[in-house]
Amino acid sequence: MKQKTFFVCQSCGQRSLKWLGRCPACNEWNTLVEEAAESVSRKKKSPSATPVPLREITFTAGERRSTGIGELDRVLGGGLVPGSLVLIGGDPGVGKSTLLLQAVNGYLSGNNSSLYISGEESAPQIKLRAGRMNIDSDNILILPETSLENILSAMEETGPAVTVVDSIQTIHSEELSSAPGTVAQVRECAARLMETAKRLEIPTLIIGHVTKEGAIAGPRVLEHLVDTVLYFEGDRSHTYRILRAVKNRFGSTNEIGIFEMTDRGLTEVLNPSELFLSEKTTEVPGTSVTSTIEGTRPIIVEIQALVSPTSFGMPRRTAIGVDYQRVNLLIAVLEKIGGLQLGLNDIYVNVVGGLKVIEPATDLPIALSIASSLLDIPLKREMLVFGEIGLSGEIRNVSSSEQRIKEGIKTGFRSFLMPRQKRELSKMDEAAEYHEVEDIHQALEILRRD
Ligand SMILES: Nc1ncnc2c1ncn2[C@@H]1O[C@H](COP(=O)(O)OP(=O)(O)OP(=O)(O)O)[C@@H](O)[C@H]1O
Ligand SMILES: [Mg+2]
Repeated sequence: MKQKTFFVCQSCGQRSLKWLGRCPACNEWNTLVEEAAESVSRKKKSPSATPVPLREITFTAGERRSTGIGELDRVLGGGLVPGSLVLIGGDPGVGKSTLLLQAVNGYLSGNNSSLYISGEESAPQIKLRAGRMNIDSDNILILPETSLENILSAMEETGPAVTVVDSIQTIHSEELSSAPGTVAQVRECAARLMETAKRLEIPTLIIGHVTKEGAIAGPRVLEHLVDTVLYFEGDRSHTYRILRAVKNRFGSTNEIGIFEMTDRGLTEVLNPSELFLSEKTTEVPGTSVTSTIEGTRPIIVEIQALVSPTSFGMPRRTAIGVDYQRVNLLIAVLEKIGGLQLGLNDIYVNVVGGLKVIEPATDLPIALSIASSLLDIPLKREMLVFGEIGLSGEIRNVSSSEQRIKEGIKTGFRSFLMPRQKRELSKMDEAAEYHEVEDIHQALEILRRD
């Protein structure tokens, strides 16, 4: 019989009979790869489940268990749920294996064992890392294995408290003839791991590689299949790492976890506000400090702007860590309504520490940084700024004002520039100054006055 092949898009799973440069379904370029047609005959009838009234389903609260890492628990929504499947993606070398080895160690209690399956590293390599991180236990079982069938039977035999699969792209099922990492393999392996994890109620953490564009490599169905999708992000030039949930069936996706990478592994950053402030001690024009809400937690960040005359041609506009379109919009508001002359200037905006902030509450600090750099007037060092700016120059209210101010006071700020509050703030610090402004003119007035 002639071997039949298909071309499968590695991004969305679309099939085509002939090779195409661009996937017709997801419009990605150069993603079609030839794969053998799989003829998995499933003769076994799957056992049928009977419908159960909702009222009769029992669920014992408190089944969530801590991984021993507070920041990871926070992002998971309070701990690992038994039988849940968690996918963790991240750039090469960001620390995925490190995080999960630590989580597996922290999750253990009593005589339970955990299973760490590595298709990427040998057992001695993992030992080396564990040694560096001071992790040593009889109960962490390391299994260098890439065959899905062997992994599933190891899960059945050892009945671990938690399983880690490092990484899904290296695992392959012997029933399929495609290469590891292809759409067919990734989908099949994830589905079978899911089935086993749910049946044995073993929480399973899967590491996934990311593509150049930053999405988890493999079909989108992978993200639909699992319960939770986390991204581990970091910047090469900084030691801190951020864990973010993009999907969570058991909790909010607003929370972030912040870690610092050290030679002893990842340590939790409990007071992130100090991390993102620059070390300057004098007032310099072009910087402002704001309090941004990440999930339920306020973080103090510093926004810097540099405005300098364009030497030739078109003025340049660069935004790092903030939305580029938003910066352009704010520049237009500053010009048209604020009356500032920015048209013949290059403008660079940057968030200190490499953090990304997308909240509208950062509008006012961005605008004031730009104005401060242009006018060469520094903002007061102990001033914290937040507020959204509308197209007509009005300053709009933002959520959680009190929380932002409280975090500011905790970090040592004594002056607050913010939108006019609808109701009286419960003043946390009577000695502090509170400037409530209604439009960009009033905000610029405060900058010029101080
Ligand atoms: N001695 C050390 N001191 C400080 N940091 C270290 C040390 N050794 C390793 N690291 C950090 O650990 C990172 C590698 O961690 P890890 O292997 O967990 O990453 P990963 O995301 O699993 O990578 P991969 O994608 O290759 O599997 C390195 O990029 C480095 O930042
Ligand atoms: Mg790794």
